[in-house]
Amino acid sequence: MEITSVGVVGAGQMGSGIAQVFAVAGYDVFLNDIDPAQIEAAIAGIGENLERQVEKDRMTAEEKAAAMARLNAEPDLPALGPLDLVIESATEREEIKRAIFDGLKPHLGTQTLLTTNTSSISITRLASSTDRPERFMGLHFMNPVPVMQLVELIRGIATDEATFQAVRAVVERLGKTHATAEDFPAFIVNRILLPMINEAVYTLYEGVGSVESIDTAMKLGTRHPMGPLELADFIGLDTCLAIMNVLHDGLADTKYRPCPLLVKYVEAGWLGRKSSRGFYDYRGEVPVPTR
Ligand code: CAA
Repeated sequence: MEITSVGVVGAGQMGSGIAQVFAVAGYDVFLNDIDPAQIEAAIAGIGENLERQVEKDRMTAEEKAAAMARLNAEPDLPALGPLDLVIESATEREEIKRAIFDGLKPHLGTQTLLTTNTSSISITRLASSTDRPERFMGLHFMNPVPVMQLVELIRGIATDEATFQAVRAVVERLGKTHATAEDFPAFIVNRILLPMINEAVYTLYEGVGSVESIDTAMKLGTRHPMGPLELADFIGLDTCLAIMNVLHDGLADTKYRPCPLLVKYVEAGWLGRKSSRGFYDYRGEVPVPTR
């Protein structure tokens, strides 16, 4: 299966990072979003990222121009159907993802491989809503996509070996490393990471430490590049809550109970960096803890 053209559905922080790494690796990329302005903003952001690479002599101006030329805005979802590979990277809500697969279904090429960047939802269940469970799998990138080396590969129960091998080869061509996870709630990274983040929120909720002391403790005490609350803001508190709910519902263990304080932040619309406020307030020059 020769893959040259890639469709990315969702031009948020993950989708735009995915589009960037594919364009740089030589794929023809078609970036889609329900909001055309979001596609334009994502492409502008990719241009700025690549410009920084040029300034740092990590890429030539010609390479940047070639990558940008391979990157296309495609506001029409059905136009992605005939491509070799489609990566769904929309909001972490099952009904949204299902609606995207439904919208693509009549337009998919017979050979098109369909993947999802879901960070926690069952691959097998998502696959069952498509017409091609054998050519469907999880392709889970980490944030920020251009920087993080790992990609999780998750087979659904019906994923065939040719699909897995083709997608694995794509990850190699991107210069990234894969880890294979079985299709259980939140796979590997988020199964381990999110309970830690949720515990950090409980630590704040119970008054054991302030935002600053929790993040300092984990950064300097365990050498994490970001503290758990800073990282939660970076991932998006709505996404963190969605993943905790998947763990709680899917594994039915109270140890995955989302912290009420996390729920409260999400209800307030304080979703982290993307809404300029979460455990930190990003509206000023430097982030200021909100508690
Ligand atoms: N997009 C592109 N590049 C970015 C970037 C972004 N959003 N953020 C940082 N970078 C690049 C910078 O340009 C810089 O590149 P150069 O070395 O080429 O100059 C490099 O990353 C380092 O950046 P900084 O010096 O500004 O900052 P830093 O050293 O503090 O690193 C970081 C930033 C890489 C984000 C680091 O803090 C880190 O690794 N944090 C943890 C990230 C993490 O855990 N991600 C996984 C989240 S979980 C997930 O994604 C799964 C999920 O489903 C929820």
